[in-house]
Amino acid sequence: MSSRPRIRKAVFPVAGLGTRFLPATKAVPKELLPVLDKPLIQYAVEEACEAGIETIILVTRGDKEAIARHFTHAPDLEAFLAERNSHQPLERVRGILPGQVEVLEVTQEQPLGLGHAVLCARKLVGDEPFAVILPDDMIRSQGAGALRQMVDIYQESGCSVIGVEEVPLELTQRYGVAAVEPNHQGRMEIRTIVEKPRPEEAPSNLGVVGRYVLTGKIFELLEGLGAGAGGEIQLTDAIARLMESQTVLAHPFQGERFDCGSRLGLVKATIEYALADEELASDLAAFLRQRAGRLLA
Ligand code: G1P
Repeated sequence: MSSRPRIRKAVFPVAGLGTRFLPATKAVPKELLPVLDKPLIQYAVEEACEAGIETIILVTRGDKEAIARHFTHAPDLEAFLAERNSHQPLERVRGILPGQVEVLEVTQEQPLGLGHAVLCARKLVGDEPFAVILPDDMIRSQGAGALRQMVDIYQESGCSVIGVEEVPLELTQRYGVAAVEPNHQGRMEIRTIVEKPRPEEAPSNLGVVGRYVLTGKIFELLEGLGAGAGGEIQLTDAIARLMESQTVLAHPFQGERFDCGSRLGLVKATIEYALADEELASDLAAFLRQRAGRLLA
């Protein structure tokens, strides 16, 4: 058994405006948009719980209280469903959050960037290593979830771990981009990391996706950081500083990522989950075949 502190807390930056989905996101936070019958944020929270997280920290904006409400016990709704013997919906509502998991909230007063959002959670996290999950990046895994994989690597190595995947070189400006070298344990050590480089300046085509396991030192580095790419306080810049004193690993996770911050990604994720749903799969497959046939005709 490792004597390293366990990763117990995960920070979810959810203060964004979701402008790409307007008008749907005018009154409903982007993180509550559904993929099939669960809101985006729930997939991310389930991934966190599977990785052993016990405290969910939502970094939110004043008017996004609906996200926390999704995770709040709803006795009236449960009583209503129980009275009507609506067992399945009742189980689904009760299963939103395991009993031992708590949800905390902190407000990000100004939209100063991802690094700033993470810094807002400092008091709630304390000094311990913790996870960050960006719910827009939805990762569907067959075996252990992406965060579970990364927490295991942290437990084994004691190092911060950043989720990465290869991205098309022409899209590096959308991502943090890392150059890596294998170490003796067969892990990838990050040598360079930059936020949103132009393709010609990118150190590789390995894009950072929204999964991080970070040591507590990241907070003091974020504290001293000025604005970076896009005029925002960037988590990537703090990770670059962290690498001056600690080893930071990259993990090309097993699983498929859907960029649910984009309309196309949300549609693709919905199709993927619907094709894995017993009730929907065969009818949807027939529909898709028919549409594909039309496209090919
Ligand atoms: C953020 C990070 C970036 C990362 C991306 C993954 O960017 O700053 O390093 O590659 O998430 O989704 P954003 O998408 O918030 O602009």
